[in-house]
Formats: sequence, C-alpha cells, structure tokens
Amino acid sequence: MEMSNNNKKQFLRNTWYVAALSSELDGTALLSRTLIGETVLLYRLENGQVTALRDRCPHRFAPLSKGTRKGDDIVCQYHGLQFNAEGQCSHNPHGNGKIPRACAVRSYPMEERDGFIWIWMGERSKADPSKIMDCSILSTKPASAVGYIYMYNKCNYQLLTDNIMDLSHIDHLHGPLINTNGKLSPLLPKVEEQGEVVSVRWDWLAEPAMQLFAVHLQRPDDQANQFFQVDWHAPSNMHLRVAAVQDSMDYENDGLMLYDYHIMTPESEFSTHYFFASARNYLEDDADYNAAKMAGMEQAFVEEDKPMIEAQQHEMGDKDFWELEPVLLSSDAGGIRVRRKLAEMLEIESA
Ligand code: FES
Ligand SMILES: [Fe+2]
Repeated sequence: MEMSNNNKKQFLRNTWYVAALSSELDGTALLSRTLIGETVLLYRLENGQVTALRDRCPHRFAPLSKGTRKGDDIVCQYHGLQFNAEGQCSHNPHGNGKIPRACAVRSYPMEERDGFIWIWMGERSKADPSKIMDCSILSTKPASAVGYIYMYNKCNYQLLTDNIMDLSHIDHLHGPLINTNGKLSPLLPKVEEQGEVVSVRWDWLAEPAMQLFAVHLQRPDDQANQFFQVDWHAPSNMHLRVAAVQDSMDYENDGLMLYDYHIMTPESEFSTHYFFASARNYLEDDADYNAAKMAGMEQAFVEEDKPMIEAQQHEMGDKDFWELEPVLLSSDAGGIRVRRKLAEMLEIESA
C-alpha cells in the first residue's frame, strides 16, 4: 500500500506534532524519523536544546542522519557538505569552497515540554507554541507517578483516533482489569465542542469500580461513581481522564484519577507514531506500581488494540473510510464529530 488513489489531502501542516519523546533523544544521537511523509533529522545541540532538519542533503539527497556531528553542525557522509543547526551550509570542501546560494536544508520550529518534543512543519510564521496541547500535569507529578511509551502502528492515524474517541471498545476488546463490565456500551456518550477541542464523556455508576481502581478504593466491592472523558485536539492529540470515587462527586480531590495522553503523529498514510504518557493522583510515590501499571497499559495496547486496528486497516486496504459506508452506532458520536472536524480543517488548509 502506497498512497491511496484519491487525491485528498491527508495531513494538516499548520499544526504541532510530537516528533519524539524527550527520552528518545540522548545527548549525541542523530534520530531520523519520517513525519507526515517527510524525513526529519532530530538531534540535541551541545546546550541540550532540540533541533530538527530535513533529513536530505540538497546535493545528492543522501540522508544527513548518516553523517557525523561536528559540534552543533552535521557533516554529510557522502561528499562532506557541512550544515549548521539552522540548516545553512557552513562548509563546502569542494573547489574554491564557495557555498552555492541554494545549499541549505529546511529547519523546523521546535518546542520541548513535559517529556514531549513538538515540531511545526507548516508555514513558519504561523508557529505559535501557545497552541500546543497542555500536558503540564505530567511535569507536576513525581517521576514515580508518570510514564511514557512510544509505539509504532501500521495503520492510518485516524483509526487510532477513533479507538480513543470510542472507548466502548474496552468492554469487548480488553480484559477485566480495564473494562467496565458492560456498563459503557449502553450509554450515549456526551459530545461537546469548545473552540477547536472536541470532548466525549461517559458517566456511570459502577458496581463495583473497574478493577484497575477497585483495589485502591476504600470499599473495593461497593458501588463507585466513574467517568471517562477524552478531549481531542487537532489533528490527533488526545487527553483522556478516567476516574473513580465513592461517597463524593469530587473526583479530583476524593477520587482516583488517571491522566493519559494519546498522541498520534502520522508517518505515512498507512503508518503512525503513537506517543503515550500517563500520570495519576494516587500511590504517587510507588515506583514499582508505576512500572507495573505502565507495563500493563503497554501490554493491553500491543496485544489487544494494535493487532485489531492493524487488521482493520488491512481489511480496509487503501479505501477511504466514508467510501466504505461504515455502519454507525451510538458510541461513534465523538469519533464521527472528530472526523468531520478534521476533514473541515484539511479542506480549509488546502483551499
Ligand atoms: S549528498 Fe551530501 S554532500 Fe553529496
Ligand atoms: Fe483499547
């Protein structure tokens, strides 16, 4: 599967994408990653700041990531052109050493915060870091209450968005630790739109709470109030909160709450980088619990969601989602709203 035969624009450009987790980029690494169909070289300057260049030498198009570092510059391994962190050629070992005017690679505005490295691949003048989804809760919790995972998926990014916007799948696809004993599917999710954020929410009375929480509640076998809320930010960045509380409706202060981030960056039309982070408001100092919790979440995703979504993509081939005339269920309300909103944004951007 290469590009599909329809000519529709696939990716927003004037938007922030996560290019990598902070932890993926150590002091000297040259990391090459394809983002929305474009190869990008990511690395840290000697002062620790992150920079990104188009990973393609303008001479004969060798990947710069195959080259070597010279301070903050990169030397192309093929014929030795050298580029600085802004992408300007800083040395030409050939002939009289004159640097041709066009000898430069594109550089991208970058922002690193809360464990994520964000990149702007659109028009430079429109890059506004205040538009980045707020993930600051990840920085307010101790390290023993926060975790990050990178996953790679062979599917279109919008299938991964659908998966989070329609959490009714947890009762059918996932095991007892994170399902709701069938409480979710009969509910009509509440969908709200505020500015450019689309939210979907389920509230229910659990009898008892999801296993994940029940064991940490005062009375594990009793009723608990629970909710799921997902806030979607374009193009495919989601903040998911799930909580349980007994004898109160004050989830934040009296309850147990998980704050998850599901951030998808398309690699190509049919492959996606999946950046996941999670924090919580209970057992915050328990590093062993943190490790076990993160491992459990990764296992659920890798063994349950991923195989299903990749198989779904395989079945869909390169066909457009709407062209296949999907049957719509009540639980699709949030996911469909997001698909329409994203399609609108793509249309506006390509106009
Ligand atoms: S391809 Fe980079 S210097 Fe020739
Ligand atoms: Fe899932």
